[in-house]
Amino acid sequence: MQVFAFNLSPFRFNLSAYLTVWPFNKKTTIAASGILAGAADHHSHILPGVDDGVETMNEALRILATYETLGIKELWLTPHIMEDIPNTPEKLMECFARLKAAYTGTVELHLAAEYMIDNNLRKLLNDNKALLPIGTASKHILVETSYYNAPIRMNETLQQIKSMGYFPLLAHPERYIYLDNDEYLKLHNEGVKFQLNLASLAGGYGTTVKKRALWLLSNGLYSVAGSDLHCEEAVEFITKFNLDKQTIEQVERLLHNSI
Ligand SMILES: [Fe+2]
Repeated sequence: MQVFAFNLSPFRFNLSAYLTVWPFNKKTTIAASGILAGAADHHSHILPGVDDGVETMNEALRILATYETLGIKELWLTPHIMEDIPNTPEKLMECFARLKAAYTGTVELHLAAEYMIDNNLRKLLNDNKALLPIGTASKHILVETSYYNAPIRMNETLQQIKSMGYFPLLAHPERYIYLDNDEYLKLHNEGVKFQLNLASLAGGYGTTVKKRALWLLSNGLYSVAGSDLHCEEAVEFITKFNLDKQTIEQVERLLHNSI
């Protein structure tokens, strides 16, 4: 009996440790983790027929139905505004009204835009034109740049946005290979906010971008997260890839942050 007790004790200890530690190390997906319940997607191209994103109302409505099943509460529609896609707020608001009229589900829809830092944006700023801000406080402007080169007068344009009372929200900074860690920190310290693309964590843009995203995430430099969704097929890709528990918790904070 003593021998049995001696043998059982280490077994109990090991089993207990295994059961305690294993779930913490277990990887899970964004969809399976439950963190999408009540979440906000701060970057998408789901407003149909206005840019390189979703083309038809039916596809947009199917995506919104999927968002409902995932528990997503809030969706920011952020069509491109750039020299090559010169959308105007008036045109986008008309399209947004059509989507709102066609959609009867539970996801809260908001209209903003993703502005390329280019001559078109500089002209809008110089002419003091109305912009489409993002966030419930209407205090942020979602901006993007080329992935490879810093745009001319980037800092001047960011300053101009700030002088108008907005925070620039830099879309998917992890994708800009011209930025290094010091430059990320400098921008962040200067009041530029960062938005994470979920696909970056899935390796959707390669391992370098994924490493940058994990570095920005672990250093607390992101404010919000988004899908940057351009088509229906991408929903599964960005919600069903494995992440460890710590990363899931970090992403959860971004998906539930409000700006
Ligand atoms: Fe985008």
